[in-house]
Amino acid sequence: MDSASRGGLEDIVVSTSDICFIDGREGRLVYRGYDVNDLVEHSSFEEVIFLLWHGGLPSKKELVAHTKALSSIANRRLPPGLVSLLKALPKKTTPMEVLRTGVSALSAYDPDAADNSKDATARKALRLTAQMPTLVAAWERIRRGKAPVAPNPKLSLAANFLYMMSGTKPTPLAVKTFDVALILHADHEFNASTFAARVTAATMSDLHSSIVSAIGALKGPLHGGANEQVMLMVQKIKSPANADAWIRKTLADHGRVMGFGHRVYRVEDPRAKHLRRLAEELGKQAGDTSAVQILDTVVRVVGEQKRIFPNVDLYSGAAYASMGIPTDQFTPIFAMSRVVGWAAHVMEQHANNRLIRPRAEYTGPTHATYVPIDRR
Ligand SMILES: CC(C)(COP(=O)(O)OP(=O)(O)OC[C@H]1O[C@@H](n2cnc3c(N)ncnc32)[C@H](O)[C@@H]1OP(=O)(O)O)[C@@H](O)C(=O)NCCC(=O)NCCS
Repeated sequence: MDSASRGGLEDIVVSTSDICFIDGREGRLVYRGYDVNDLVEHSSFEEVIFLLWHGGLPSKKELVAHTKALSSIANRRLPPGLVSLLKALPKKTTPMEVLRTGVSALSAYDPDAADNSKDATARKALRLTAQMPTLVAAWERIRRGKAPVAPNPKLSLAANFLYMMSGTKPTPLAVKTFDVALILHADHEFNASTFAARVTAATMSDLHSSIVSAIGALKGPLHGGANEQVMLMVQKIKSPANADAWIRKTLADHGRVMGFGHRVYRVEDPRAKHLRRLAEELGKQAGDTSAVQILDTVVRVVGEQKRIFPNVDLYSGAAYASMGIPTDQFTPIFAMSRVVGWAAHVMEQHANNRLIRPRAEYTGPTHATYVPIDRR
């Protein structure tokens, strides 16, 4: 069976793009020509945002202006009406549902909502990227019965998010780890959520609608939801001593192991090693590396038995958990970073648009005879 008839648009090229390149055989991820390994080592999330949106690295002056705009209170704060809306939601609402609802509601307050021009879409992308961390953190506080923490314009996006979640200043290692995680999740070519964003953008719909489509696609456990499932697996395994037997049994029962496998990578996802290292460092700082030890055993057994390798979702959860972030916030954090890539793709789609409208190979009847209801 060829890849097209297997479905899922596997290996189908939908469009050209200058944003992100993945070499699935070599395990390389490249944003606008720059290897993600170099960006992790030398760059910041703010600089990567500039790179993805503008196509090149910023000058010093450009980076200062861009960082200032991203961190300003005017762009980071939530409209009071949105905070009231969050407070009205049932406390059991999941963070991904809140994010999907909140982003949709933010368009109602956006001064450029009705303007689909290039400049207006860029302004909306900047505001939304600045607002999403505030939205995610505000819900965390509200559902715990606490008041939201106001954003601090002196902190980077990573540091400010961790500060708004807990109300206390995060450690430098936590900030570094979080910044790297944001860099690593910022874009990934035509993954399911980005494709969803582009399909919506290709009808010449607006940025907020495109991002809401993307959030809906990211929510599923085969995409962004996998990192939550990984932590649930770690909790089930409980201790490193149980890991070997647990994973062997899961594979024998033909279970799907979350955090493994990828549609494009045939080798280890290049993002996984950075997240493993940071998860281990954070675990050491917190005095508990058991989650990383459990995952290392799972990697060994799955690699031996199935020749399937870790993806980005395997170790990210362990790192976030060490920072005290609840499991159901992992996917919203993914979205807080990926909104940058989604926005870059929406802008690219709008700049050279053609409606995305594939066909189905119809397999149903074609000449059924209508029978009136009283004769059926
Ligand atoms: C990401 C994913 C959906 C890509 O899958 P895909 O390209 O559609 O590949 P398939 O589902 O067709 O799997 C191909 C084979 O590998 C196996 N496989 C793939 N991922 C697997 C996993 N995580 N655990 C166990 N087996 C897996 C499948 O069972 C299948 O084996 P078979 O040919 O013997 O039936 C898939 O690897 C997966 O479900 N991973 C877990 C979820 C996850 O971590 N998602 C985050 C992605 S970044």
